[in-house]
Amino acid sequence: EKGGYDYFMLKEIAEQPKAVADTLLGRIDASGLLTLDEVRIPVHELREIDKVVIVACGTAFHAGLIAKYAIEHWTRIPCEVELASEFRYRDPILDTRSLVIAISQSGETMDTLMALRHAREQGSKVLAICNTNGSTIPRESDAVLYTHAGPEVAVASTKAFLTQLVACYLVALYLGQVRGTKWGDEILAVIRDLSHISGEVERVLETMEPVRELARSLADKNTVLFLGRHVGYPVALEGALKLKELAYMHAEGFAAGELKHGPIALIEEDLPVVVVVPSPRGRSVLHDKIVSNIQEIRARGARTIVIAEEGDEAVVPYADHLIRIPATPTLLQPLVATVPLQVFACELATARGNEVDQPRNLAKSVTVE
Ligand code: F6R
Repeated sequence: EKGGYDYFMLKEIAEQPKAVADTLLGRIDASGLLTLDEVRIPVHELREIDKVVIVACGTAFHAGLIAKYAIEHWTRIPCEVELASEFRYRDPILDTRSLVIAISQSGETMDTLMALRHAREQGSKVLAICNTNGSTIPRESDAVLYTHAGPEVAVASTKAFLTQLVACYLVALYLGQVRGTKWGDEILAVIRDLSHISGEVERVLETMEPVRELARSLADKNTVLFLGRHVGYPVALEGALKLKELAYMHAEGFAAGELKHGPIALIEEDLPVVVVVPSPRGRSVLHDKIVSNIQEIRARGARTIVIAEEGDEAVVPYADHLIRIPATPTLLQPLVATVPLQVFACELATARGNEVDQPRNLAKSVTVE
């Protein structure tokens, strides 16, 4: 049932191109527009929404953090992202014009369920992004957009995460489409790029051997840091979470712009630091700032592991290890940048002799608060 792979996690990482393609299937029409019939919230209500609030836990929360960048950019609707476990305990401001998006692979996470119940009590509409048909969270929501990742067995979430991202992009683009923002042309172009992204994920998977080798060489380390900016920041958080849960290593993700505000004090000789570099096209200011961050940490002895777009030559002099990813529009980069981090964590776990599919102390679905 592991399809020739040693672990479900490896199988599920390999299935990501198909999972991503399946989540897009039937949702883009012949004219390149989105048809999200499942989102049964009437268009006139979607036009009235004045706030989006995303609630989720763990990896799904990281998908939500990335969704915020996409939703605010393409729709100009303010978007908050909150850990489901914190949400209802802080008396959040919600009303009938708020759209709450609950993201959950299992559809059974108790904290996320309680958050959506709280939102519905305030009269807000709830849209679930979920991978498990007929589970509790979609049953209790106003609408559901299913991710079609297929069953995810390994405790550490991989293909569900990528499909959650795709679903979030679809919602963001759809809201932009029905509300008619000034980004109309960009929205059409991104829908086109999304329809090719499965092939880009495939290309990343084909180049992972050096990442596995690198991971094995770091098996005796205690700490790995992850840095990113913009949508690369949640990718850094996800890379760190994967490493904690699988390799049982101390791993932390930081926004690269925060380095000088504390984390740079952690840098010491030979400390592995993974840096997710934004595209040098598009938001090139951020790219240049991150290149100087890499210089700064390397000057202090860090071993830099740099994830950068093909053709980005500026990073080469400062990268002790360079992991190439295909060029994508900035907002879509997490779909390709996360994959090497999943492979990295999985290989480190194996090298350290850990149980990859069933890490200690963790359960696949957390049905208690
Ligand atoms: C991490 C992981 C967890 C889940 C979290 C939410 O790899 O699997 O952090 O993402 O428990 O679970 P769902 O998505 O089922 O609500």
